[in-house]
Amino acid sequence: MIRIAPSILAADFTRLREQIAQAEAGGADWFHLDVMDGRFVPNLTFGPMVVSAVRKLTKLPLDAHLMMVEPEKYLEQFRHAGADHIIIHQEACIHLHRTIARIKELGAKAGVAINPATPCSTLTEILPDLDIILMMSVNPGFGGQRFIPATLRKVAEARSMASTLDLDIRIEVDGGIDTTTAPKVVKAGADVLIAGTSVFGTDNVEQAVRRLQQSVA
Ligand code: DX5
Ligand code: ZN
Repeated sequence: MIRIAPSILAADFTRLREQIAQAEAGGADWFHLDVMDGRFVPNLTFGPMVVSAVRKLTKLPLDAHLMMVEPEKYLEQFRHAGADHIIIHQEACIHLHRTIARIKELGAKAGVAINPATPCSTLTEILPDLDIILMMSVNPGFGGQRFIPATLRKVAEARSMASTLDLDIRIEVDGGIDTTTAPKVVKAGADVLIAGTSVFGTDNVEQAVRRLQQSVA
């Protein structure tokens, strides 16, 4: 099953309720929330308050993508705000094992994200503990960037690492996903498509989600 996770980063925040309902009507499976701290990435977005507002607008699983340094300080807050999946960056977390264990203790699914220049091999030791790998297919910080093709090889490598160990892991791809890149990443082994601009940057959100799903059917 291929899941579509629209990223609200590209949504119109004055019409969030409406846009979330439209994405759901189009068949969205999860919602993706991009938390940026202005330190790990050169942009600032939102924190747990917005996660808890979105929590009230949908029953679908919420994917909190923490693009921040020291994410371990805020796990409880994001979990209590209603995040079902908490994803931290390998590059931003010194004690990955401890932090992943804590996310699970809080009852959330745990994920690790890696940047385009970070090799898959940095995940070798933590892989058996993960529910989700998030493969950045652009440099994190902004929506609307172009997909980096070298990601395809990394997705295939991550999928093969997981299969070798017989692990049931979701592989999400994040950045520049549209109806052209989606089939390629799915073919490489991804099973969750995060999409901001190609969903919320259109004038028919419902149809955009449906088209994305159809492109990989
Ligand atoms: C980028 C974020 C992405 C972003 C993707 O740092 O992690 O989730 O919303 O946006 P698009 O789909 O526009 O590339
Ligand atoms: Zn993201």
